[in-house]
Amino acid sequence: MKQDEMKASAARAALAYIEPRLGRKSIVGIGTGSTANLFIDALAEVKHKFDATVASSDASADRLRSHGLTVLDLNAVSEVTVYVDGADEVNPQRALIKGGGGALTREKIVAASADKFVCIVDESKMVNLLGSFPLPVEVIPMARGLVGRALRKLGGYPELREGFITDNGNLILDVHELSIEEPWKLETQINNIVGTVCNGIFAAQAADVVFVAGAEGVRQL
Ligand code: A5P
Repeated sequence: MKQDEMKASAARAALAYIEPRLGRKSIVGIGTGSTANLFIDALAEVKHKFDATVASSDASADRLRSHGLTVLDLNAVSEVTVYVDGADEVNPQRALIKGGGGALTREKIVAASADKFVCIVDESKMVNLLGSFPLPVEVIPMARGLVGRALRKLGGYPELREGFITDNGNLILDVHELSIEEPWKLETQINNIVGTVCNGIFAAQAADVVFVAGAEGVRQL
């Protein structure tokens, strides 16, 4: 099976979490990236099973609307039923690195708002130790140097993502050569650097369920 077919299989598996709720709205939080895009396409086939969506990026919102799906502002909903998104790395404890597409902050916000976080990946994303994928950190532009120096003290090699501005108007530093043995601890340490908006470790906000698609089919973590 090709990688795109695996991503599509994982995306379809997540449809099991989309269902109407008696007396309550069913709101689907939507991630960002190529796997999330395949989920959006699959979601369009089950429009009758949910009420509306909340998107983690302008790109995902545009794709949802192109399918005729309703996209609400997060502040307009009191709860998100389920959040579905891809990841750049997943460890066996279901902690993640995300933000390869630069949407990590809104992704973490929507994930934090959701009752359940369902992650959809192909098997190339599975690792024992997070950190081979450079860790994205969103920073306020004027704090780029300050945050970069602090990240070096934590053992990483930050590199500015050239020509990239987030949906929030900020910059991304991609931090190389971090060996993330305690994801929750490093996530907190980086959050505490003044000028950091968000970092791409999702450990405090780990996935509740991961669908991993491989050549043999889809397994659930
Ligand atoms: C977007 O900012 C990211 O967090 C993506 O969810 C992640 O990079 C996975 O993307 P792909 O599904 O395209 O691999």
